[in-house]
Amino acid sequence: MTTLPPPSTFDHRGPSDSELREIAKIIYDHAGIVIAPGKGSMVQSRLGKRLRALGLKSYTDYIALVSSEAGKEEHRHMVSALTTNVTHFFRENHHFELLRDRALPPLLERARAGGRVRLWSAGSSNGQEAYSMAMTLAELAPDLDRLDIRILATDIDPVMIAHGTRGYYDTALVEAVPEALRRKYFQPEDDGQRVIPALRRLLAFKELNLHDPWPMKGQFDVIFCRNVVIYFDPEAQERLWRRFEEALNPGGWLFVGHSERVHQSGHSKLVSAGITTYRLPDAGPNTGGSQWR
Ligand SMILES: C[S@@+](CC[C@H](N)C(=O)[O-])C[C@H]1O[C@@H](n2cnc3c(N)ncnc32)[C@H](O)[C@@H]1O
Repeated sequence: MTTLPPPSTFDHRGPSDSELREIAKIIYDHAGIVIAPGKGSMVQSRLGKRLRALGLKSYTDYIALVSSEAGKEEHRHMVSALTTNVTHFFRENHHFELLRDRALPPLLERARAGGRVRLWSAGSSNGQEAYSMAMTLAELAPDLDRLDIRILATDIDPVMIAHGTRGYYDTALVEAVPEALRRKYFQPEDDGQRVIPALRRLLAFKELNLHDPWPMKGQFDVIFCRNVVIYFDPEAQERLWRRFEEALNPGGWLFVGHSERVHQSGHSKLVSAGITTYRLPDAGPNTGGSQWR
């Protein structure tokens, strides 16, 4: 009987400089994510377990696999492992206050007059941002189920999309939600907490690479894209800001991460409207929300 060597006898070295460059190129070409030359140990800590799971001895073998037709599934695992998914409920809470106090009231007025309203969490990770948007909305609108309001949550990482769709979180994570909201919008399931169906129905989770063409038709009123472009190079950031601008309705809002900025230039109509918050000028009543669904 052949026995497999225990995992500890597999090669635990990180990628060589040239292997790291190749891995960085693959992830950059696919996701626009920049991995700097000094990040070998980060790559090792995230991909080492994939090599071990596959029984591969070297990063060269791994690179050959993810570059091959047969390695398509592993390529998805690689993207998932190399994306940074850190998030939490009501992260940068001032954005949710602004959403509640300034952005949503006129949008709800429009929805109550029969209009469509669409919000987008772009780079949503496992959905905590999108569900924070949903709770903010639901608190303002007890009549939500009669309104044409939807939230789209997208991410490149299929594992995050599956997590968000299920809406199930460890109890410790849900502690970040104010207690009154927690009691209203979560129910215990197994050892954790799950978002109630009425709130989950507001959201659609979809896998989407922001650098690919976007399949959504129609415009958005609110876009959250926070702590995502920080991993991209300046040109990719700039391209994305322009695309978000084009995807917004007049008067639409763009929320970005605490260390991100939209540089206001002659090409952009976005104006600063709060801390790391931007807005397009209003053009009066509009009813054309995105038609993702
Ligand atoms: C740090 S998380 C931010 C989550 C959330 N927006 C927040 O601020 O809490 C960054 C997310 O961006 C996603 N991401 C990275 N590159 C992407 C791309 N090219 N297209 C779509 N999502 C991407 C990652 O998978 C990750 O879930």
